[in-house]
Amino acid sequence: MANRVTAIYPGSFDPLTNGHVDIIERGQRIFDRVIVAVLVNVEKNPLFNSEERVHLLREVTGCWDNVEVDAFDGLLVDYALAKEAKVILRGIRAVSDYEYEFQMALMNRRLKSSIETVFLVPAEAYSYLSSTLVKEVFNLGGSIAGLVPSVVEDYMKQKINSDRGKI
Ligand code: PNS
Repeated sequence: MANRVTAIYPGSFDPLTNGHVDIIERGQRIFDRVIVAVLVNVEKNPLFNSEERVHLLREVTGCWDNVEVDAFDGLLVDYALAKEAKVILRGIRAVSDYEYEFQMALMNRRLKSSIETVFLVPAEAYSYLSSTLVKEVFNLGGSIAGLVPSVVEDYMKQKINSDRGKI
């Protein structure tokens, strides 16, 4: 029990993509416990609120016993400490991700040196995939099939239909 390693996989997940799911799947094979941690306060106009993002993540990750989903606010390292996690898990898709991820990893190390950041690489099919692009394509009427879990796609369609109904 004492040597069990918990990893936190933090992110905005607005929305959850198949690239995120790929990282969660790889992470849960390596670590004893993976906590997917949804950042509560993202950009001003998120597609989904934090409750919706947590709900969708729970739907998709329910098949893995060692994966939990939670929401967090404040400093990531404080949250990781509270959860007794030794690892922050992040995905790196391409070299372009590296600078931002490198800065975050070093800042987090400065804040709490006992927590290590571990990077995993998703399948190359997802190397171009981002939540931002998914939202843009979807809002402009393009297909996002295969880019996000089907439950997320359905939820996005419902949301756009209900928003149109309000106008
Ligand atoms: O999916 P994202 O938006 O790239 O995730 C960014 C996230 C949530 C990992 C980052 O914004 C974060 O850790 N926010 C919490 C606040 C914090 O600890 N900031 C300092 C990190 S160096």
